[in-house]
Amino acid sequence: MSTHDEPENGSLDRARRSLRRADRAVALTGAGVSAASGVPTFRGEEGLWRDYSPRELATPDAFADDPVTVWQWYRWRRRKVAACDPNEAHAALARWTLKEEGARLVTQNVDDLHDRALRTAAGEAPIPDHARPVELHGSLFRTLCTGCGRRRERREEIDASSAGALPRCGDCGELLRPDVVWFGESLPREALDTAMDAARGASVCLVAGTSAAVQPAASVASVAADAGALLIEVNPERTPLTGRAAHAFRAGAEEVLPALLGGG
Ligand code: APR
Repeated sequence: MSTHDEPENGSLDRARRSLRRADRAVALTGAGVSAASGVPTFRGEEGLWRDYSPRELATPDAFADDPVTVWQWYRWRRRKVAACDPNEAHAALARWTLKEEGARLVTQNVDDLHDRALRTAAGEAPIPDHARPVELHGSLFRTLCTGCGRRRERREEIDASSAGALPRCGDCGELLRPDVVWFGESLPREALDTAMDAARGASVCLVAGTSAAVQPAASVASVAADAGALLIEVNPERTPLTGRAAHAFRAGAEEVLPALLGGG
């Protein structure tokens, strides 16, 4: 483990014990937990927002103006994620949510690595609802119909070669879009309510791999802390949440989470 810098001389053992003792705990993840899998983050050196403009690719207006370009970018992101595998951070969180009935995973990520890790960890066993990640920002692998609002899982390639080739709804014929939350859009109500309920009831909140730069997702952690939860942060860099963390581990999630949540 590389060095960890905790405001109150915490330790891995104390953080682990707090998690083990918690009747209810909530984990909030961001792009950093997928970094070790090769999925680009948004705001780091190699971040997506360094090379692409969210305003041109991740807003309803951008899609209305140029759906072909937007779908080409999302097709690239889908291919990128499909070529990556979950890492030890995803695996540790999947085992934790399957084992701990009071554990809730809330993610800002739209890659499917938490889901894939959960399916691997569950094997043939059924996956209880409480173990499924709460997806605050949607999923790259679901489409949303711009006409009737129907959501569908979709893994097969998207043909974005021309406007006429773009995917359309089988029910109403309208254009399909990626089922992800774009800048300026509200988060899915049910997901946000589930996340905030988990935050308010948690005695421990584990925050991993997020710059805590985007609201309301980042407030899952502050709502938990305001309600008295002990905050544990895992991030090589400081964030606006670091000051409230009882334990802050300056290391990768793929390294710390298996140690924190229990190994394989
Ligand atoms: N382990 C843990 N954290 C890491 C790792 C790692 N191996 N590598 C990088 N990080 C940290 C970075 O230090 C940074 O704080 O992950 C964080 C990634 O921050 P962002 O790129 O801002 O991603 P995220 O916080 O998930 O962004 C939130 O913003 O653009 C929107 O919708 C998008 O869901 C996204 C939201």
